[in-house]
Amino acid sequence: MNEDRRVRITEVGPRDGLQNESTLVPVAGKIAFVDALGDAGFPEIEVTSFVSPKWVPQLADAAEVMSGITRRSSTTYSVLCPNQRGAEAALAAGADKISIFTSASEGFCRKNLNASIGESIERFRPVVDLARTASLPIRGYVSCMVRCPYDGPVDPEDVLGTVRRLLDLAGGDIEIALGETLGVAEPDQIEAVLDEVASVVPVSRIDLHLHDTKGMALAGVDRALQCGVRAFDSSCGGLGGCPFAPGASGNLATGPLLDMLEQGGWETGVDRAAVERAAVIASRITGRV
Ligand code: HMG
Ligand code: MG
Repeated sequence: MNEDRRVRITEVGPRDGLQNESTLVPVAGKIAFVDALGDAGFPEIEVTSFVSPKWVPQLADAAEVMSGITRRSSTTYSVLCPNQRGAEAALAAGADKISIFTSASEGFCRKNLNASIGESIERFRPVVDLARTASLPIRGYVSCMVRCPYDGPVDPEDVLGTVRRLLDLAGGDIEIALGETLGVAEPDQIEAVLDEVASVVPVSRIDLHLHDTKGMALAGVDRALQCGVRAFDSSCGGLGGCPFAPGASGNLATGPLLDMLEQGGWETGVDRAAVERAAVIASRITGRV
């Protein structure tokens, strides 16, 4: 692969996609979906979340899913953890990478984690310690990079503020993923946030996690590529959304993202035909076909 043209895709459908389904998808269906995504050659698949089943019943089977999937050595199987309990369960389940998640806005953080941003960071301390002890990489999500469903427009300086807190928490050794939770951003807004955050993290190390409510996500990717971003999240079949972000719809869909990247001469190493096969499974297990 030509490293200069390389773009890294994290497939988040099994986690961000299935957390937002109104019906509960059986464990076997989730395993089939993750394994089909593994066949497609994604460098990373976000499999599930070790969160409270009272808050997200859709992912209450996290440990069973993790134990049922077939691992590929070239794929990182990552999971979300909100607290120490989640991290302990994730490690026991053999997660390859731990993702903590907070927000640039207080309103969303409160609804999503029942905590202020500061409290969420305190809860992540033991998560980071456990991940470090197990030599696992850590991702830190910052949701609401341009707009919060509760607090309205978000200032790029607030995104920077939360990014700094995550960097401080992890001694700088953390992948920063900027979440456009509502899927409403214009490319200029994405660029403004990237410009702000670039003062503390090289843009080439930022991951962009876009939802696509307004159909602007691909335009956002295009601009982010121009700004130097080389890592994006997407969801097979465009599933996705956060139960605590009213109005948000699916993630940026993987298929169209791959098509756009290929047309632009970018290389992902992901097998487009295998993504289609996984999308068929996603439709089936979520009852869309
Ligand atoms: P809480 O109610 O404040 O905390 O929830 P708690 O400690 O009182 O726990 C409540 C119950 O959950 C207790 O059970 C705990 O034991 C249990 P009870 O005693 O009542 O029977 N519990 C757990 N169970 C399993 N695993 C755990 C765990 N922790 C507690 N880890 C808490 C606080 C953080 C737990 C809750 O708010 C929570 O789980 N939130 C998760 C929310 C979530 O998953 N949101 C979606 C992911 S974020 C997202 O989608 C955005 C993103 O995609 C980026 C973007 O788009 O911007 C990442
Ligand atoms: Mg999301």
